[in-house]
Amino acid sequence: MPVIAIIGAHWGDEGKGKIVDLLAEQADMVMRFSGGDNAGHTVVNQQGEFALHLVPSGIFSPKATSVIGNGVVVNPRVLLDELGALKQRGVDVSRFFISDRAHLVMPYHILLDGLEEDARGGKAIGTTRKGIGPAFADKASRLGLRTSDLLDKDVFRERLHAVLTGKNTLLTKVYNADPLSEDEIFSEYCRYGEILAPHICDTSALLEKAVDDGKKIMLEGAQGALLDPDFGTYPYATSSSPLAGGGCLGVGLGPTRIDDVLGIFKAYCTRVGGGPMPTELQDEIGGCIRELAHEYGTTTGRPRRCGWFDAVASRFSTRVNSYTQAIVTRLDVLDTMPALKICTAYELNGEKIDYFPASAVTLEKCQPIYEELPGWQTPISDIRDFAQLPLQARQYLSRLEELIACPISVISVGMRREQTIFKSPVW
Ligand code: IMP
Repeated sequence: MPVIAIIGAHWGDEGKGKIVDLLAEQADMVMRFSGGDNAGHTVVNQQGEFALHLVPSGIFSPKATSVIGNGVVVNPRVLLDELGALKQRGVDVSRFFISDRAHLVMPYHILLDGLEEDARGGKAIGTTRKGIGPAFADKASRLGLRTSDLLDKDVFRERLHAVLTGKNTLLTKVYNADPLSEDEIFSEYCRYGEILAPHICDTSALLEKAVDDGKKIMLEGAQGALLDPDFGTYPYATSSSPLAGGGCLGVGLGPTRIDDVLGIFKAYCTRVGGGPMPTELQDEIGGCIRELAHEYGTTTGRPRRCGWFDAVASRFSTRVNSYTQAIVTRLDVLDTMPALKICTAYELNGEKIDYFPASAVTLEKCQPIYEELPGWQTPISDIRDFAQLPLQARQYLSRLEELIACPISVISVGMRREQTIFKSPVW
């Protein structure tokens, strides 16, 4: 299957980084298609441990071309820091490209993200405050500046001037904040443009050629399906589509050319930031999962909210992404649990429902209805063969498979690449 999309099936942080890094060994091209540096992937490989925010995980592959697609909003300062740190540790970044249509995260986006969050008070979304929402809002409002604008200083100056005048009015008159200096932003971003220029190109054209040549291509999702602005727990959502459909838009490829959609499901659920999470465990078990799995955000360091596997939300995720394969990560985290719960339905106003409601307010009222399965209570991180997994682990996976309505092809049982069980080949 030459073109695959890797999608976070829950609220992000499902362990996509490890899976992409693992599969990138065989890929010819790895493309990020949504989000920005709000994303955070931890990759552990022979070269060490890396926290990536913008650069695709394929950067570690000796042959793959790594691409930031048009659907990503790029903070050039963060990108250059990340590339610099990778280079310093001996990673080859010469096969790295950015779409000339990708929008830029500007200093006012970051300021406004924080100011808007503060203004929301108790109803804050819990954004990463990286300016992602305001950057995508400007894209939709036709106020965005793009990487291609960086390549022509006159165009960049003119666009910046027009946009910054409005932003400074907003900053000073609405938020009582200080205005930003056009000259400072201009010279800072021109410097970024000069360094990034050799990497900026029409990446959709690169992709088309690679697809035509039968190359193996991976579309690397960020965040998770339940944070999608249309299908996620709106307004507690991100601002670009992490879905497989978003993958097409975010790289410039039609849907008929994607061969396989891989949903990455964590063996339990986590969420960072605000918004409903029906299976959240605010007890000892939730805390135990957090500490065992070190569930703290890669980007913000915030503790992740932990809970049992939500099969209602997961089945919905399968529906809106049409997964062809499921990958279950972090199964080993459940090793010590005497019993495991799976949420198979919700109780809403005294009635049992099996759908994922559109309204976050409604979802907030949903109580999980659980099915309980026995735990395996033995370490599984050294197992490489599906048949060697304890019976209870196989039963748990088989029940998940049934509930999410998608075959499981891979199971991750540890952070390292080799701690992976292939039930069937992915590529
Ligand atoms: P934003 O994307 O920074 O605007 O944040 C919107 C929501 O998405 C917040 O709840 C964030 O915590 C969440 N979010 C954004 N990026 C990630 C991610 O990579 N993993 C998990 N949650 C994320």
